[in-house]
Amino acid sequence: MNVHNVRQQLFANRLKVKRRNFNANGATSYLPLYLQALMVGEKLSFSLFVKVSADDPQEVKFLPFLEADEVLEPSWVDILKKLGINRFYFHRRDLDLVIAYLNNHLLLLDIRQEDLPKEKLFVLVEHLNFSLQRSFSSPHLGRHIHLAQIQVERLILELQRNSASLKLVWELLYQHYTLYNHSINVCLLGIGLMLFLHKSRHESLIMGLACLFHDLGLTKVPEELLYRPEPLTPEEKETIRNHPYRGYQLLKESKSVPSEVMQLVWEHHENADGSGYPRGLPLDKQHPWTRVIRLVNEYDGLTGHRPFRQALTPFAALKVLQDQVGPNRRIFEHRTLKNFIRFLAVP
Ligand SMILES: [Fe+2]
Repeated sequence: MNVHNVRQQLFANRLKVKRRNFNANGATSYLPLYLQALMVGEKLSFSLFVKVSADDPQEVKFLPFLEADEVLEPSWVDILKKLGINRFYFHRRDLDLVIAYLNNHLLLLDIRQEDLPKEKLFVLVEHLNFSLQRSFSSPHLGRHIHLAQIQVERLILELQRNSASLKLVWELLYQHYTLYNHSINVCLLGIGLMLFLHKSRHESLIMGLACLFHDLGLTKVPEELLYRPEPLTPEEKETIRNHPYRGYQLLKESKSVPSEVMQLVWEHHENADGSGYPRGLPLDKQHPWTRVIRLVNEYDGLTGHRPFRQALTPFAALKVLQDQVGPNRRIFEHRTLKNFIRFLAVP
């Protein structure tokens, strides 16, 4: 089917569009991109695809919806919204083009100077998400960390604009689990909580960067170990439990990361009662914000959809966090958890 036929069929609601992003058959060459992140009435610089069911219900296929250099017409967007289609796909090889396109979208939103905090935050978050995908797979991490710093600073500025923006954090969280989505969610929750507690921009930036790169070490763990439902051997468990240190090492090699960020990455699985890993540090030996990154990381783990487990509601997740007791005391520091609950309930 060519692009015109696909549009015709799609607008007539004759295609079996896959609305969820779950992918039963592992990674594909296509990455999801939300309709909201696209510039309506502007030319695209890459091709967009729609994900539909194939003849075999277990299979999916990607049909071309819009080609590079075509304009996304406003009337099409209206139809798509009515059909409940909020997501398209692009080919992984176009990642650089998509990042540049989202950057242009942000510039356009700046020039227009309209007060659209939600739209701007949404594009910022998508931009950060794809930039992170590129940096995690790049051999030159240092250059990307500098970019990430600029992006997190921008996110902090937007969230600081007014108290209404801070509430939007909860709407921006990704539901579907990927390493990148999870990292972005933890970053949003981490800086959101820091700003809610009136911490400085600099402190929020340290937290944001640490949250963004906290699981970088997982990129060096074989994927097969991360998603295997069967029990792991002690050595395999050790490999996974060492990912905070691996992440710390990778960041150290890049030579451009503040030392506090590296420390937080190393400590992001340390518990308040000293029962965490990889070092089992007691609370007074941890960085003062290790308890924050530990908490927001766990919260996002519980509330996001994972391959082998249903997502919990925010309330159920908070209950789990409150009830988690280690061999000695609570796993999550009491005051941090109380503040997080207040942040969640922000009116
Ligand atoms: Fe982790």
